[in-house]
Amino acid sequence: MEREVVVTKNAGFCFGAARAVELLEKAASEGKPVYTYGPILNNDRLVESFTKKGVKVIEDVSELKDLPKGIVVIRSHGVSKEVYKALDETGNEVIDATCPFVKRIHKIVDERSKNGEKIVVIGNPTHPEVKGIVGWSNSECTVINTMEEVEKFCRAGIKDFCIVAQTTFNSNKFQEFLDIFRKKGYNINVMNTICDATRIRQTEAAELAKKSAVMLVIGDEKSSNSRKLYDICKADCDHTYFIQSVEDIRGQLPVTPGPIGITAGASTPKYIIEEVQSYVRHDF
Ligand code: F3S
Repeated sequence: MEREVVVTKNAGFCFGAARAVELLEKAASEGKPVYTYGPILNNDRLVESFTKKGVKVIEDVSELKDLPKGIVVIRSHGVSKEVYKALDETGNEVIDATCPFVKRIHKIVDERSKNGEKIVVIGNPTHPEVKGIVGWSNSECTVINTMEEVEKFCRAGIKDFCIVAQTTFNSNKFQEFLDIFRKKGYNINVMNTICDATRIRQTEAAELAKKSAVMLVIGDEKSSNSRKLYDICKADCDHTYFIQSVEDIRGQLPVTPGPIGITAGASTPKYIIEEVQSYVRHDF
């Protein structure tokens, strides 16, 4: 008997992730040494599949000096201005797979800060995307991630700020932070740079979780957007499981009657979703 399985429409790769993987695939087919600046996506299986094709992950530009010349692919998170420059100087070919939505933030921060505006980035300071964004500012740039930090924020003598957000930042939290800035009397020039892909995926996941007896969220342990999807689904469906691949659920699906819902984080490749989908459909 087949079990009813529903997959959210936007499960898996977002536009930026799909584009980055496509560019890397193309680079890997050229027969030259290929390096990615950091893992292409937060998905070990995907990274391993590229390692098998000879792609090497580097964490720092300095590693390139002992390696044969080839192609360096910048991943979707983007990098700072300095890293671009340093990569150019290595003499390797550079393919920029920075998501165009992130590139837009770089441009805003670069231009606004050149005009003398001070920058505030709302996001996680340890995330590579935020580190890259900060690296495009030509003036003072502050990163704010928590309510406590906004409450404490105080710049005597400075009134005007240009505020941007990490693409995956929570939109409600962003608005709350902005309210505090306004209450403090700052003139803020807000660029809402939150990417819709995250919000859409989260809304779809919550809707499906409400209707499902079992909910499977597929994503790598390291993927924060996948973990977030798990939290959202768990709130609406008790039988929610966070899995990396079909192996984590094999023989362990609860026999609860009713449909099984599936969603996946932005770094989960389609073939992993399909494997899970076809397995659960027949698992009993
Ligand atoms: Fe780009 Fe949005 Fe994905 S910023 S990398 S399309 S989550």
